[in-house]
Amino acid sequence: MNKLKQGGIAVLDYGSQYTQLIARRIRELGVYSEVYAYDGSAAHINRHDPAGFILSGGPKSVYQAGAPRLQRFLLDSGKPVLGICYGMQLLTHVLGGVVDSASQKQYGPATITHTEGSPLFDNLPGELDVWMSHGDRIEAPPAGFVALAESENSPYAAIGDVSRQYYGVQFHPEVNHSPQGKDILANFLFEICGCGEQWTPAAFIDDSVASIRETVGGEQVLLALSGGVDSAVAGALIHRAIGEQLTAIFVDHGMLRLDEADDVIRVFREKQEMSLIAVNAVELFLDALSGVTEPEAKRKTIGKLFIDVFSAEARKLQDIRFLAQGTIYPDVIESAAGSEAAKTIKSHHNVGGLPADLNFKLIEPLRDLFKDEVRIIGEELGLPEAIVWRQPFPGPGLAIRCLGELNWERLEKLRAADAIFASELASADLLRRGTAQSFAVLLPVKSVGVMGDNRSYEEVIVLRAVTTDDFMTADWARLPYDLLARVSARIVNEVAGINRVAYDITSKPPGTIEWE
Ligand code: XMP
Repeated sequence: MNKLKQGGIAVLDYGSQYTQLIARRIRELGVYSEVYAYDGSAAHINRHDPAGFILSGGPKSVYQAGAPRLQRFLLDSGKPVLGICYGMQLLTHVLGGVVDSASQKQYGPATITHTEGSPLFDNLPGELDVWMSHGDRIEAPPAGFVALAESENSPYAAIGDVSRQYYGVQFHPEVNHSPQGKDILANFLFEICGCGEQWTPAAFIDDSVASIRETVGGEQVLLALSGGVDSAVAGALIHRAIGEQLTAIFVDHGMLRLDEADDVIRVFREKQEMSLIAVNAVELFLDALSGVTEPEAKRKTIGKLFIDVFSAEARKLQDIRFLAQGTIYPDVIESAAGSEAAKTIKSHHNVGGLPADLNFKLIEPLRDLFKDEVRIIGEELGLPEAIVWRQPFPGPGLAIRCLGELNWERLEKLRAADAIFASELASADLLRRGTAQSFAVLLPVKSVGVMGDNRSYEEVIVLRAVTTDDFMTADWARLPYDLLARVSARIVNEVAGINRVAYDITSKPPGTIEWE
């Protein structure tokens, strides 16, 4: 059993959009936490011997037919349980209290007042701002429970049975809109569950290094390095563990941003001293993409060719037993809802679907980490900020940002415009903070302009910048007008063949982040 993960918190997922956030907050407090399907087996949920359980919120009402249930073994474990929103209602319902549809639904900010002496609110001010989002509410708590906090709309904003260590909160302590929410979770972890702060970056690295060495033994490992954060951090971690036994392959498909290929090669070959095979496949990809304009056809062409090029390189190497992948925890949760069967390769990963005869065993050293944890580990491993804090970049790269016909000239135009946008954002400190993804898109459309005394007729660049936490929904970034003006002027002046710049003000939904 993995020591680092022992004595953490198991989060039972009842379908809330915030479930992952609960686990992230707990880990930020230095305690390991994992998300489990609410109906997972006891053996699976108990596999790291958690110190306590948190029941997430969820969209159902406990009285609805088919509403997710609470498994008895959780209550029988004798360990502390905290129910959040639906989790609290479920706890109440199962233990004999009354839940009812509130006459007034409560969404948004609320103030709660808590009674003194409850370990859940230890060392916190008497009045707290919290974030509510619920329809049902507690009418009568189960026997043994008392109200620990009230709000204007609910006399039972928090309840608890201190002797059995069962607690429930109607609000969401895990969201940023509950400013002291993290302190409440900390009280649950440290005061109530008795957790220790052992989930630290240094401990994770030590633990991973030992386990990679044990798994790999004297064998060779191959890594597809894309230049993105996940494969970079996975590479640095494995390299720390087994050094020369790791070989990385980096395929330059020509769809990367300005200087990106050179940067990746420099950082990993020179700074990290990794054995790196860099394949320049630009012409191959451009030939294959010639005449391909339909977005999904671009993705398929690139994905397939990538596999061919990567496999051809891999076959040249002798005795490779393992393939390393930068799969991270949200990929695992999303691909299998946290079930035991979660062993799926990222479908949009360029190395998904390698030929069976290569017969690699997978190693995925980041499969327990959230993105922000991956970045912290990357920093701890000494990777440069430009790589660790890189925004997500799609596998097909600029191919899906260069709308219409793909050729070197158009890609270079797009690269130049994109680099200007990125450098202005970086100067305004809006690249690492302030925008989650920001890039230029080249449209296959010409518009009329006037440059000097001449009429111009050139292509259009669209700037796209979004804010988002999860990339499932996103809002367009409210960038300063002055910055947009500077970027627009620079692109039109410095990039030949562009005479107009537009800013995309579509949120997701209904738009997507990418244009193709
Ligand atoms: P959309 O455009 O669907 O994008 O709002 C959501 C996130 O996914 C990324 N994306 C991709 N990533 N291969 C990838 O590796 C792809 O084909 C792909 N398409 C979109 C996109 O950049 C955003 O972060």
